Amino acid sequence: MTTRRTALAGIATAVVAVPLAGASAAPAGATVRAIGAASAGRRGSLVIGHRGASGYRPEHTLASYELAARLGADYLEPDLVSTKDGALVCRHEPEIGGTTNVADHPEFAARRTTKVLDGVAVTGWFTEDFTLAELKTLRAVERLPAVRQENTMWNGRFEVPTLQELLDLRRRLSRELGRELGVYPETKHPTYFQAAGLALEQPLLKTLARNGLNRADAPVYVQSFETTNLQQLRELGLRTPAVQLLSATGAPFDLVTAGDPRTYADLATPAGLRAIAGYAQGIGPDKLQVIPRNADGTLGTPTTLVHDAHDAGLVVHPYTFRAENTFLPVELRSNDVASDFGKAIDEQVIYLETGIDGLFTDQADIGVAARAEVYGVVGVA
Ligand code: G3P
Ligand code: CA
Repeated sequence: MTTRRTALAGIATAVVAVPLAGASAAPAGATVRAIGAASAGRRGSLVIGHRGASGYRPEHTLASYELAARLGADYLEPDLVSTKDGALVCRHEPEIGGTTNVADHPEFAARRTTKVLDGVAVTGWFTEDFTLAELKTLRAVERLPAVRQENTMWNGRFEVPTLQELLDLRRRLSRELGRELGVYPETKHPTYFQAAGLALEQPLLKTLARNGLNRADAPVYVQSFETTNLQQLRELGLRTPAVQLLSATGAPFDLVTAGDPRTYADLATPAGLRAIAGYAQGIGPDKLQVIPRNADGTLGTPTTLVHDAHDAGLVVHPYTFRAENTFLPVELRSNDVASDFGKAIDEQVIYLETGIDGLFTDQADIGVAARAEVYGVVGVA
């Protein structure tokens, strides 16, 4: 617990107003490839606030995003799903029983149901069965109460935000902090939402355009674990950089649905990466695809993925870096308590030394600290 308090120290005081490496990732007119080269070689690496600052606040809440920004994140990451009336809201999956207090609302008890989500039966409450107005009556709760007990203090206090509310926050905080914050939206389960008649792509494009963010030099990366919808977004007019997410196992659900045998492992080969470069500017691999773990849980030897991706002209932003022992390689754990913080700065430093161009982290302050050690960049004061 001491470690967590240490990490939180200073949040309320002298935060930021210092230009951070990659903070406004895209200088006007720069090509996406140049952005990657700059962040990889000369200006450091991006700190992406994963679901905001989800190590310190319930994920995907405005409080979580704001804290990530104040801790020094360059980009704020919303996962996006749709409501019944087509609003894009920030949730990691359509099922909301794990991250909201919907179970405490008797008026919604009858909406509990079982659906097949990307081939898996899931029971709970689903955003596409709620209007935005109904969803706004719920409040967020901590997803991982056993590991993040301190976050449960915030249960019941924050709404489920829309993408527009996050973009409004981004604009306000960019002005206040004196640096342009980026946004890194992920389309969640696009095939599922297309089948439900609630495709995510057009609402995302319209929202980006409405906010002046559908530009090649916007501080935006649009990401997806599926491949087809990223290509569709390009065809529909997406101009921002895009990132193809990869997984250490399995295959993109759109390819599974189409009977295409390609897996994420195939996409991560040099040929697969060259194909991705036809529609995206980066990859977001599982960090284990960059440095796998040995059978005993210690860190193994880096793969060639970063090198291969850079050869294909792609930036590399692995996920997800978390400070608690339970998520760390064995040799970087501080003790046997799963929820205590371990040597999380060390882990990120080791990964930054592979040449990655950014990382998704639940604790943005740790990302800033690790980057400062590797690149000598001034971070949070
Ligand atoms: O989008 C990068 C990372 O967030 C992917 O994992 O499951 O947390 O969305 P997930
Ligand atoms: Ca995500």
